[in-house]
Amino acid sequence: MNDTTHNPAGRMAALRARLGGIGFGADYNPDQWPDATRAEDLALMARAGVTVVNLAIFAWARVEPARDAYDFGYFDRVMDDLAAHGITADLATMTAAPPPWLVTEHPEVLPVTADGTVLSPGGRQHFCPSSPIFRDRAARLVEAVATHYRDHPALGLWHVGNEYGCHVAECFCDASAADFRRWLSERYKSVDALNEAWSTDFWSQRYTSFDQVLPPRTAPTYPNPSQQLDFKRFGNDALLACFAAETAILRRITPDVPVTTNFLAGLKSVDMYDWAPAMDVLSLDSYPDPNWEQAHIGAAMSYDVIRCAGGGEPWLLTEQAPSAVNWRARNAAKSPGRMRLWSWQAVAQGADAIMYFQWRQSRGGAEKFHSGMVPHAGPETRVFREVADLGAELARVPELVGTRIRNRVALLTDWHSWWALELDSHPSDAVRHLDRALDHYAPLFDLGVGVDVVHPGADLSDYRLVIVPSLYLLSAEHGDKLSRFVADGGSLVVSFFSGIVDDCDRVHLGGYPGPLREALGVSVEEFWPADAGAVFPVRGPAEPGDVPPTGTGDLWREDVTLKGARVELEFAGAEWAGRPAATVHTHGAGIARYIATRPDAATMRGLIGRACADAGVEPVLPVLPRGVQASIRAGDGYDVLVVLNHTDATHEIDLPDDRRDLLTQDRAITRRITLAPRDVAVLGSLPTEPDTTPAPE
Ligand code: GLA
Repeated sequence: MNDTTHNPAGRMAALRARLGGIGFGADYNPDQWPDATRAEDLALMARAGVTVVNLAIFAWARVEPARDAYDFGYFDRVMDDLAAHGITADLATMTAAPPPWLVTEHPEVLPVTADGTVLSPGGRQHFCPSSPIFRDRAARLVEAVATHYRDHPALGLWHVGNEYGCHVAECFCDASAADFRRWLSERYKSVDALNEAWSTDFWSQRYTSFDQVLPPRTAPTYPNPSQQLDFKRFGNDALLACFAAETAILRRITPDVPVTTNFLAGLKSVDMYDWAPAMDVLSLDSYPDPNWEQAHIGAAMSYDVIRCAGGGEPWLLTEQAPSAVNWRARNAAKSPGRMRLWSWQAVAQGADAIMYFQWRQSRGGAEKFHSGMVPHAGPETRVFREVADLGAELARVPELVGTRIRNRVALLTDWHSWWALELDSHPSDAVRHLDRALDHYAPLFDLGVGVDVVHPGADLSDYRLVIVPSLYLLSAEHGDKLSRFVADGGSLVVSFFSGIVDDCDRVHLGGYPGPLREALGVSVEEFWPADAGAVFPVRGPAEPGDVPPTGTGDLWREDVTLKGARVELEFAGAEWAGRPAATVHTHGAGIARYIATRPDAATMRGLIGRACADAGVEPVLPVLPRGVQASIRAGDGYDVLVVLNHTDATHEIDLPDDRRDLLTQDRAITRRITLAPRDVAVLGSLPTEPDTTPAPE
């Protein structure tokens, strides 16, 4: 975003100074409760150590009950109360749910699905992002809110919209169609360029004017894939334009107040790498499923994404559940200690705030069975006690704020590739972006290696190992960059169905994986996706090492032709016996591996472990039991090591140096820690002794 007033460091310094440590709080919806409840809320917030709340996210209908009739009386009292209690407001722009009067006057603001269904009000996020009326009413509201609260002492951060794209990622109405055509004409400049990019000679789709182009609405069969991909890009940009328009108003009226919006972990519709430059601080909502055994690994990956999207700066965990959510088919509560462990996990991976949805569990409405910091049963409960204990604990480590993490491994991910990979009419519908990323992230997590999750365009010069998990869309430029990374001495691991198409979803010709063939020393002619449940034997390398001698693959196979690479893992089943399942190739000063199937977890860990060893990548701690996670956040002249036991066993862990236990009151010095199941240790480095060696004569 071209914003000359963009000064995130300055604005964030002000927020950090206000919070004075790791921020702690929740979405606060006092408007759902009688006034009398607020006094109790504020007393309980003091008990829990709350320092910041996300306020008024769904308050449009109360603040503007009729067109232009703003009424701030209620929230004035709330903001005054917060200020009086030293609590910072992350004040919402309130635009996430248009009020009934607006959709009654202008039903055309409602979003429309690909098959023409108009989505009704009654839930939330019922607006077309391209609607000029919605944008106009939202802008007026934001202007009024910002002008009214610009000097309020509680205001510390702006919360724009809410989880953009979580319910309505794209709208197919006529206003969206017009906006899409504008977007296309800016992107392609001429209809000929559009025809070329979209391969429109296929199925008689050649356009002679932008006016003929429509959103990819429900069609007799597969709509043009390049059109679908561009519509995903357009949907992302339309939402970003809504965010940017609100942000521009806020920056004009309150230039010193930082701006954020909360992303939802694992959400396909909005590209965090793309949005990040428009924000002062990145925020994430994270809801790992306590019933999923890999939940902590999936969460870890999303924390590495958000941190890296923000250039490595600390980020804010703006929402998590104190216990259960309400929106899965079965909503498990978090067992004792899990909420604490998962909160510290976010801090370990760069969060400077831990917040929940929501403060007080709702009495009515669609989310009444979603847990709150104050449950239906009140504050004398396990959930509130655990929450308050965590608030006290987080307050003990202000030195964590602003610290950064340095990793030597990058896993590449790209929303555009995600959108393109999951389009229809592909060799297999079972190759899913997040699953494939996790298939590569999990072995690194198990090996105790810290990972950055970055865009293919990122600067890779600090990394020793780069992992490319089924990155279907890869431009020739980014492919060349990866080849140079290897030639210059880097280690690369690429999995099947990477580097297949360009930015327009057109295949790189000459053999797969187009721009990576040379570095990998392989070429592929055909894909052999597997049926659901089919597994095939693979045989590990003859030389001793971490890759098991026998294992299995599933999901996919390729008949790889070696063009200089050697085999590291081979298929063992009758017809495929001896064919390469994974290869390794020396390219320039570096090493490039290719994996042509989905190996079982142990085999994958072995292959990734070899790549780490070749690259000289070490785990965060020398000995780390499986399921124990460690992370180091470094400040100026000190660092903090966070160790998290995700297992049900007790572990003793030796540290490579003496450290101060920052969670114990006496801050005892230790070199060995004992971690009970789900326990956490937060360990500060000791000040280095001043160098007293006499200077040479
Ligand atoms: C999202 C929203 C919140 C709430 C929670 C429930 O994160 O931002 O308003 O609906 O989900 O988990």
